[in-house]
Amino acid sequence: MSSPSSPRSALDADAVKAAYRRWARVYDTVFGRVSGMGRKRAVAEVNALPGERVLEVGVGTGLALPFYNQNKRITGIDLSEDMLERARMRVLQQGLTNIDDLVEMDAEATRFADDSFDIAVAMFVASVVPHPDRLLKELKRIVRPGGHILFVNHFLAQGGLRLAIERGTARASRSLGWNTDFAIETLLPPEDLARASIRPVPPMGFFTLVTLPHDGSK
Ligand SMILES: C[S@@+](CC[C@H](N)C(=O)[O-])C[C@H]1O[C@@H](n2cnc3c(N)ncnc32)[C@H](O)[C@@H]1O
Repeated sequence: MSSPSSPRSALDADAVKAAYRRWARVYDTVFGRVSGMGRKRAVAEVNALPGERVLEVGVGTGLALPFYNQNKRITGIDLSEDMLERARMRVLQQGLTNIDDLVEMDAEATRFADDSFDIAVAMFVASVVPHPDRLLKELKRIVRPGGHILFVNHFLAQGGLRLAIERGTARASRSLGWNTDFAIETLLPPEDLARASIRPVPPMGFFTLVTLPHDGSK
């Protein structure tokens, strides 16, 4: 049986890098549009929250970067240099002046000091990292108490036909670079689930926006 810290199709760091080396060139075309609403909702939420130091975790090709308010200072990290290269190109081409850094780093074990950020946001990343529990722990370390941690993701359906389909497609997730059978409980322990704001993203509710106020717990 899979444990909460290892979803059934967990990807290791090498599998992630290999998958996104293949994806980088076509990512925006294939995935950019379907996930666009989730990304916009998450950034709108970030823009409305207090604090200016924002970490975007698994920034990818930087599709969200143009949506941040000018008063937010963004640092983006990603495991994949191929994805980051595209994000850097976007910053240059669009003349974005509030992006402080785009660096290769493992979100499960960053080089940032404690309390470095007011907000961390991970869009379509939690189901890709090898150990979501380590990701959450690391974000709690580097976000200051009183700050916020946000996730946008597809989470495993609670039942019905959609659950059956998602279980069935889980094995293909290695080559896709994400897990279709990723339950929200894999990411958030019960005490965080109880405190978090959890909202479906319209129009289909296929993606979910999670906002976790950071109470300082580690
Ligand atoms: C599905 S893409 C999402 C990209 C972007 N957030 C977006 O909204 O389009 C997942 C991204 O997470 C990155 N990633 C996966 N595991 C990571 C880790 N442990 N640390 C940092 N980035 C990671 C991948 O390289 C990839 O760029």
